[in-house]
Amino acid sequence: MQVVHSLDALRAALKPYDRPAFVPTMGNLHDGHLALLAMAKEHGDVRVASIFVNRLQFGPNEDFDAYPRTFERDCALLEAAGCDVLFAPREADLYPQAQTFLIHPPTGLADVLEGAFRPGFFVGVSTVVMKLFQCVFSGTKTQAHAFFGEKDFQQQLIIRHLVTQFALPVTIVTSPTIRESDGLAMSSRNSYLSEAERAEAPRLQACLQAMLAAVKAGQQSLEAIEGTAMATLRAHQWQPDYMVIRRREDLGMPTDRDRALVVLGAAKLGRTRLIDNLSFDR
Ligand code: PAF
Repeated sequence: MQVVHSLDALRAALKPYDRPAFVPTMGNLHDGHLALLAMAKEHGDVRVASIFVNRLQFGPNEDFDAYPRTFERDCALLEAAGCDVLFAPREADLYPQAQTFLIHPPTGLADVLEGAFRPGFFVGVSTVVMKLFQCVFSGTKTQAHAFFGEKDFQQQLIIRHLVTQFALPVTIVTSPTIRESDGLAMSSRNSYLSEAERAEAPRLQACLQAMLAAVKAGQQSLEAIEGTAMATLRAHQWQPDYMVIRRREDLGMPTDRDRALVVLGAAKLGRTRLIDNLSFDR
């Protein structure tokens, strides 16, 4: 695996290839990331990962400084998983000047749920993804692929819109959320949990499962289902931001006719904010 930091070195490393298969990450890799890399093996002629903790997508009171940075371990995992090129830019490589051109994703999609609780988050994500795509795919001669986890459901939806609206020659491929044996969605932020919190953490997914079951059972009031999930979490010392049932296509409020749905939740357990979701058809 070639490890490159500068944009020039990345372009030189990718020059012999036509079609990179790209997995962008912020590092502290887990099996969810490795599943994306395994999917990338099926596409393209070179597998590229990036590790960049993107300051732009963190709010002033969020965990940018504390975000786990495990570069040596990540390199070993990527190498073992068959990554060919790792792009690990320093801030000065990716943002040599203050990044004042920003991508503002459409309201409606980006100012709800995560966007409402993390103002600026999707501006930061969209801007860095656009920039990483420019870096990785600039020499691409045909349609290429980039890989994202479904755990960040709203993020992958926004990135799909970004690719469509800017006519980028990239197909977005998503992989199902990878879970621990007790159902907790794998996340770099799980490492913040204390032992007691880790034991409690699967409740988020259990509440989403209960919401899904209630919808499938024909319970009519979605607000009541959402309210029960919020109350259950609060009763177990969580601080939920949202527990909602939405249309899968655009995160709008479902009508009776909508079949393809997703339940999404975000909640704080102690200092750690966890998110999760489940897609289903009713
Ligand atoms: O999902 C992530 O790890 C990040 O939001 C991403 C897509 C790498 C952009 O920084």
